[in-house]
Amino acid sequence: MFAKINSSHLIGIEALCVDVEVDIKSMGMPSFTVVGLAEGAVKESKERVKASLKNLGYNIFANAITVNLAPADFKKEGTHFDLPIAVGLLNAFGIIDKKLEDTLIIGELSLDAKLRGVNGVLPMVIDAAKSGIRKVILPLENAEEASIVKESEVFGFEDLSEVIAFLSGNLTKERFVTDINDYFKNLQKPELDFADVKGQFFARRAAEIAAAGMHNLLFVGSPGSGKTMIAKRMPSILPPMTVEEAIETTKIHSVAGLIKDKGKLVVHHPFIAPHHTSSDVSIIGGTREVKPGAVSVAHNGILFLDEILEFKRSVLEVLRQPLEDGYVTISRANRTVVYPANFMLVGACNPCPCGNLGDKIKECTCTPHQIQRYRSRLSGPLMDRIDLQVTVTSIDFKDLSDMQPGESSDSISKRVKKATEIQKKRFANEDISYNSQMNESAIRKYCKIHDDALKILESINTKYGLSARAYSKLLKVSRTIADLANSKDIAKNHVLEAVQYRFLEQE
Ligand SMILES: Nc1ncnc2c1ncn2[C@@H]1O[C@H](COP(=O)(O)OP(=O)(O)O)[C@@H](O)[C@H]1O
Ligand SMILES: [Mg+2]
Ligand SMILES: [Zn+2]
Repeated sequence: MFAKINSSHLIGIEALCVDVEVDIKSMGMPSFTVVGLAEGAVKESKERVKASLKNLGYNIFANAITVNLAPADFKKEGTHFDLPIAVGLLNAFGIIDKKLEDTLIIGELSLDAKLRGVNGVLPMVIDAAKSGIRKVILPLENAEEASIVKESEVFGFEDLSEVIAFLSGNLTKERFVTDINDYFKNLQKPELDFADVKGQFFARRAAEIAAAGMHNLLFVGSPGSGKTMIAKRMPSILPPMTVEEAIETTKIHSVAGLIKDKGKLVVHHPFIAPHHTSSDVSIIGGTREVKPGAVSVAHNGILFLDEILEFKRSVLEVLRQPLEDGYVTISRANRTVVYPANFMLVGACNPCPCGNLGDKIKECTCTPHQIQRYRSRLSGPLMDRIDLQVTVTSIDFKDLSDMQPGESSDSISKRVKKATEIQKKRFANEDISYNSQMNESAIRKYCKIHDDALKILESINTKYGLSARAYSKLLKVSRTIADLANSKDIAKNHVLEAVQYRFLEQE
């Protein structure tokens, strides 16, 4: 007696079809073996499947049972093979008498045969649909997430007995339907609004430019100057997510087990703020249990490193690859996975160890050597990838209480949206979406500069000796400033504004 069930397995945020093959011999000694490079949780599947089926009264374990997870050349992890194994057994015994070639089955079982949601459902359903497997049977908890895939017919269940009744034709069930557009209608506004930030024109403008061109940004200023406050409001001015971005981000969050209440499409740009004591693994992704890290969870959103200089040097080092490539590669003894990691880095730090350098009231007690050593941690490859460096000076409490509320996020985001639409058109035939992602040849192609603007750049170069990288950064930021002004070419005032966002290079 033999049965084959379609299931799936994750590699990074993509999925691969796995055949769960069940072979039963009524002759031999009673046994229950799972082969096909089953690891940890998959090995334990046996116990959960056995307990579930026994609880439902199926005494089928007096036989020699072999389950093979094919292809057998890669390791299988996770708990989602429970349900396909259980259904495969019942199918092989003829208890479920139905051909299931067109059905994807995934789900974890509890010992009393209840179904539990699993991680990574969205990529699995997408992959199955690509291979023509369009019926999906899974835990109810995962049904909404799975039904994001329009072409799939999704059925969600609370327990194994329901699945058996359904597949035996004794239970009718409506397919689970989700209209992806509903997620984008009436989007909830972020709670934190730029209207709360008084004054700080310079820092607010930098945040706007960063959002408009997805530029990495660093705020430098004394404690209490409002760096964290401004950074936390940046999601409120980012352009709306596209459907593609939402699906891609949801895939990552699904694999990471972050889909709250299971099944919500991620429609807001992630804002991920790991603590400065975070380990390299939590930032970049796991190697033991392969799992996306903060850089991937922040994909299509913002990674905020508050007190960036307090992070371990090794953490700042590992940020280099994702900042350069937009993805991370995690290698393990026998395999490598790649996770997308295209995020906007927003950092904040004090200007010096004591924090008071440049403050109008408090005095800095650091020596020049201390200041230099402190800053040197930020220099080099990481700083090369931060396009905007902004000095934030604190406002007097008296001024603060007098000031009018700032411009609202709604109003700022309108300008940002227009600027990103210009970029979308500009890069329609390129594989980038934002000015910050331009390479040298794209810069040459798209950054046409007025003559007087070029003169400014030349004089800056003579004065400060710009490196090639610094020069490119200036052009990219100027391009975004020009886009915010709806200007086809880069003019003198755009360059002059861009030049102000260079904190470290001015020293
Ligand atoms: N420009 C501002 N407008 C309104 N409140 C401000 C401003 N700057 C600072 N504050 C107040 O000061 C607090 C501390 O700011 P914070 O962002 O934590 O400073 P930093 O991160 O630079 O140390 C904020 O929570 C806010 O209440
Ligand atoms: Mg702070
Ligand atoms: Zn100091």
